[in-house]
Amino acid sequence: METIPYVPRAVLVANQKGGVGKSSIVAGVASMVAGGGRRVLVVDADPQGNVSKSDFGEAGDQGKGLAQTLHYSVPLEPLRGVRPNLDLLPGGSFLSMVSSTASSAADNGIDLRLNLVSALYELWGEERYDLILIDSGPGDAPLLDALLGTAQYLVVPTKQDDASLDGVELLAQRYLRARQNGAEVQLLGMLLFDANPRATVRNREVLDQITDILHGSGVDSFQTLIRTDAAGSIDTRRHSFTPSELVAATQSRRAGILKSLRKGEKTGEPDEARLWSRDSSGLAGDYQALTNEVLTRIAERETAALGVVK
Ligand SMILES: Nc1ncnc2c1ncn2[C@@H]1O[C@H](COP(=O)(O)OP(=O)(O)OP(=O)(O)O)[C@@H](O)[C@H]1O
Ligand SMILES: [Mg+2]
Repeated sequence: METIPYVPRAVLVANQKGGVGKSSIVAGVASMVAGGGRRVLVVDADPQGNVSKSDFGEAGDQGKGLAQTLHYSVPLEPLRGVRPNLDLLPGGSFLSMVSSTASSAADNGIDLRLNLVSALYELWGEERYDLILIDSGPGDAPLLDALLGTAQYLVVPTKQDDASLDGVELLAQRYLRARQNGAEVQLLGMLLFDANPRATVRNREVLDQITDILHGSGVDSFQTLIRTDAAGSIDTRRHSFTPSELVAATQSRRAGILKSLRKGEKTGEPDEARLWSRDSSGLAGDYQALTNEVLTRIAERETAALGVVK
């Protein structure tokens, strides 16, 4: 079988169910890797464009560049320095036409996957990103298939409800089919999102269920889960804060309020500047821990691939 190339260190975050934390995880992990001094590219391959607009506060070209690459093999031009060490290929509504026109594109000999993998590989070659994180939308099968044929690794987040697990099941089928068709994408791990860290027995049970869904992939789930933090999730999106930026914002606000109190000043905040979070350091800690796990697993796979197995 022909070997299909992939983009090195490109990690696709996917689950065919909506609202399971794909975008939050892409943004959270990317910002932690970049904050640690490594170069990161975020590819927002979702017509909703959440990771661009809400998480990083950059609507950019709303997916036009990515759509042109997918259809016409146009070279990719990222938004540079969205955060220090972090570039972004914006997503958005232009990508919705990619899926809707996919079958006629295929009839005309257009290979979405080949166009994307070639352009992204070229960009990676020029920029030498340490990590590429790809966000995907719910559903959106043709685009998802192209992404599964582009990434080297796959991360699958899920909530614990049955509908989210159904989304894992659908994705598992696509993943296995992609591999049967020659894609080299490897499952890196799955994780719980919007979960209670103290519910250890239930969490374990759900993770075992996911492992079964992925047909006994033999891949352990990540130890880290992303805890429920409703206030933090509202604040990060409303203000386009990364998890670490939110921690800094709540701390400086606290310092500001204390200073005002000492001076006997009023401490009111205008509504638009209001933060619901008091302390989001737990959430930021989860993203840091997940980032460490992701980087460690990639390093282990790379070492194994070099044949330097202990
Ligand atoms: N730690 C958290 N706890 C609870 N809710 C959260 C948390 N982080 C994010 N959320 C919220 O959960 C919802 C889903 O998150 P997110 O958008 O990351 O999921 P998604 O899988 O990318 O969704 P979609 O499939 O629509 O792209 C959002 O409303 C987000 O604000
Ligand atoms: Mg999303």
